[in-house]
Amino acid sequence: MRNNRVWKHVVKEGDSLVDATCGNGNDTLAMVKMVAENSCRGRVYAMDVQKIALENTFSLLDKELSTDEKELVELSAICHCKMEEVVPTGVPVRLVAFNLGYLPGGDKTIVTTSETTLLALEAAKRILAPQGLISIVVYVGHPGGRYTFFFLDCYNSFLLEEFEIVRAFASELPVDNWICCNLRLLNRPLAPVLVFLFKR
Ligand SMILES: C[S@@+](CC[C@H](N)C(=O)[O-])C[C@H]1O[C@@H](n2cnc3c(N)ncnc32)[C@H](O)[C@@H]1O
Repeated sequence: MRNNRVWKHVVKEGDSLVDATCGNGNDTLAMVKMVAENSCRGRVYAMDVQKIALENTFSLLDKELSTDEKELVELSAICHCKMEEVVPTGVPVRLVAFNLGYLPGGDKTIVTTSETTLLALEAAKRILAPQGLISIVVYVGHPGGRYTFFFLDCYNSFLLEEFEIVRAFASELPVDNWICCNLRLLNRPLAPVLVFLFKR
């Protein structure tokens, strides 16, 4: 299941996008390719709280993008709840993407948290343009999952709680203005859940 297959239906060349958890840079790279395709226009604001994540993202972009494409990216060491400090006021943002949890290959104790994720979702809601999308990958699996909730270690119960926060946030968005759905694999119940919030 790949979330950028959904992004392609929403994002147009020249759009402004936000990668709220840039990590190793894979999502940032996919975003730049989408906005830059033929025109080399658009903007991708990518952020992370970890220096190593920003370095990994920088290296990946440096290897994979042309000089002109690299100009379209703004990398920031900032919590995603402060994304409005990075995206200039009035810029219509077509996509805000979150890939929650920890940095693959990195320090597993540095994870997204329910409190800042909720603040960041509220910020994303404020800056998103009509016809835009908030895309969230939430990890509920790892060794435990919903079915063995009481046996989970702190980290996994954290993730389940984060999913509940995302679900509650999405459930309360007014149906006249938002289409909210999630995608789960029925035959892999511990796989990450993809959540998509479309603004009408
Ligand atoms: C699953 S990784 C993201 C993977 C990334 N999208 C990619 O394509 O490689 C989650 C990232 O969220 C970052 N993170 C944790 N808390 C954050 C916060 N409050 N604001 C921004 N990033 C945060 C972590 O440092 C980690 O790099």
